[in-house]
Amino acid sequence: MTNTLPTPFVDLLSSRARFGWGGPVGTQRPVTNARYEFGGGFPDPASFPYDALAEATARMLKAEGAQALTYGDPQGYRGLRELVCHKYGLFEGLKVEPENIIVSNGSGHALSLALSAFVDVGDAILSEAPTFSGTLNTIRRHGPQVLDVPVDGEGMVTSRARQRLEALRREGRRCKVIYTIDNFQNPAGPTLSLGRRKELVELAHEFDTLILEDDAYGELRFEGEHLPSLYALDGGSGRVIRAGTVSKILGAGFRLGWLLAPKEMIPAFQGFLFGGGVSPFASRVATYYLRDHLESHVALLVEVYRAKRDAMLRGLWEVLEGTDAEISKPEGGFFVWIKLPAGTDTARLLDLARQAEVQFTPGPAFFPNGGGEGFIRLAYSYEPPEKCYEGARLMARAIMGSGLALRHR
Ligand SMILES: Cc1ncc(COP(=O)(O)O)c(C=O)c1O
Repeated sequence: MTNTLPTPFVDLLSSRARFGWGGPVGTQRPVTNARYEFGGGFPDPASFPYDALAEATARMLKAEGAQALTYGDPQGYRGLRELVCHKYGLFEGLKVEPENIIVSNGSGHALSLALSAFVDVGDAILSEAPTFSGTLNTIRRHGPQVLDVPVDGEGMVTSRARQRLEALRREGRRCKVIYTIDNFQNPAGPTLSLGRRKELVELAHEFDTLILEDDAYGELRFEGEHLPSLYALDGGSGRVIRAGTVSKILGAGFRLGWLLAPKEMIPAFQGFLFGGGVSPFASRVATYYLRDHLESHVALLVEVYRAKRDAMLRGLWEVLEGTDAEISKPEGGFFVWIKLPAGTDTARLLDLARQAEVQFTPGPAFFPNGGGEGFIRLAYSYEPPEKCYEGARLMARAIMGSGLALRHR
């Protein structure tokens, strides 16, 4: 959907609403009626625990009755906050208290709350380039100057972040927030290495700024070792705010996420919420289900998504072997990031992907300040493995048909 300008209220829009006005709303999906849905990071519908959720809902209603259907704790249902603490203990050995958590309408909303609390129009913030397009839309609405920091195989290039911070300091300015997706980065896939995690936390202290750690996929690790979060490395000293979600480990339809932050900071976010807490009913359903099934359900999802990733990579490499395409192999999460072979005609690729009915997201959606034309992102999360394989082959053929790649074979 695109907004158009000639409407009488435009003059009355707030300055924040004007940022991005007239541009696209949400991330664009170039292929209509796709047969292979590799566009958004949608969780696997076949894994939704329908029966167990029905059972948990009935059990919850019996136990909580009217509590579930009236206004709730403004910081969010305490049972869910306790469960999130349990989750951090279980997967990471991280000890936090329910007072450190505020429940939000998905982690996208959590990130928005953090930005609203700390970012004014014109402030400088640092973001990975590429980064998650959804957050970029939210960031734009807050009107900061976004300074790019590149990403390589070890995640955000911290030496470049330092250069940015030093340049700001020379100008007498200060970075408000460093936004990073440290696990299985969306879209490029890398996980921030331990050395860089430590360095980033040091940078936040040295340059008196905050890190906004977006960890939507951390539990969905297919291989390799879990690394301590930035929040854990900071020891809760107040330099790191961390966003989490049930979207990827249970269902995005719950629209439940949270911020983990020092207790003293929570009121800064709560001030942007209407009273009554976020979704007391959905919070209880999720909590009752996850209390019994968190570990086993995540273990199942790890198997499910690993199989999909492998199927997609197999399909891509069977066709693109021998070309100079670069294809990520994420250790977890939902996405494959492809650097297209040199000379790929992206307009032609779009045509061919449409003909093949394969949805994808073009690279430019992920760059705060332009660029990314030579990249695409494919999400393997939604389709079953057979379709990940078939669709990946079709997409790879479309890539071959869009440029010089064929000549290399
Ligand atoms: C990196 C990242 N952060 C945040 C989100 C937002 O997720 P939700 O609002 O469903 O929790 C997503 C969703 O795709 C994501 O990939």
